[in-house]
Amino acid sequence: MPAKIISFVTMKGGSGKSTSAMCLGAYWQKSGMKVGLIDADPAGTLVRWIAAGTDLAEIPAVTAGPDSVDTGIDDFLARGLDRIIIDTPGFQSEATDAAIRRADLLIIPMRPSPIDYQVAVDSAEHIADLTTAPVRFLLNQTTKGSVIARHMRAQMEAANAQPMEVELSARVAYGEAALAGTTPSYYQPRGAAAREIADFASETGTLLGMRRKKARKASEPV
Ligand SMILES: Nc1ncnc2c1ncn2[C@@H]1O[C@H](COP(=O)(O)OP(=O)(O)OP(=O)(O)O)[C@@H](O)[C@H]1O
Ligand SMILES: [Mg+2]
Repeated sequence: MPAKIISFVTMKGGSGKSTSAMCLGAYWQKSGMKVGLIDADPAGTLVRWIAAGTDLAEIPAVTAGPDSVDTGIDDFLARGLDRIIIDTPGFQSEATDAAIRRADLLIIPMRPSPIDYQVAVDSAEHIADLTTAPVRFLLNQTTKGSVIARHMRAQMEAANAQPMEVELSARVAYGEAALAGTTPSYYQPRGAAAREIADFASETGTLLGMRRKKARKASEPV
């Protein structure tokens, strides 16, 4: 498969962009793929996360501003990486727009709440103005069997906003692993969070194999 670029985007802060991006990158790296991370958030979350431990030290990661997202991608492509993952800030920026334009797949993480959902839909509409690449919502910090997560999923499906099948549950393992500069796939490889991440990687891999569709607004039918 040629190199694929996955961008994590939503204007809602704290929705899980950095966590899902890092966990996906670490999983793929651990499973033998050549992964590169572009940290387009001025907060530098991914780079600091990697620096806090040793498990992720082999993953090439660069910070990038509005003028350097494209060159960051091109450098990684020239190095023959399999997967390039881009984390973006929780606000609109030129760097985010560059990450959107170059992506083969856009993932919009969101917590199961109406407020997060509204911002996620706004983000999806902004994305649809810039690219025809597929866009998926990722429910993050869910509680198993909760009414609100089911409700959010139903609302998304009614609006033709496509949720991923996998959900990342609210688990202390995510924060604890980050504290140790690692992710659940290394920290607790047989734990529930690691299993979710494996499912997330598998579903993402399937989406990357799919063909592009015509551009559409999140509010329009598929
Ligand atoms: N599934 C989860 N379970 C438990 N905690 C989580 C989970 N996902 C994220 N968190 C925690 O929630 C907080 C926000 O997550 P994260 O930093 O990934 O969001 P973000 O979208 O990147 O935020 P920002 O827009 O500020 O960059 C972090 O403290 C993270 O550890
Ligand atoms: Mg972040």
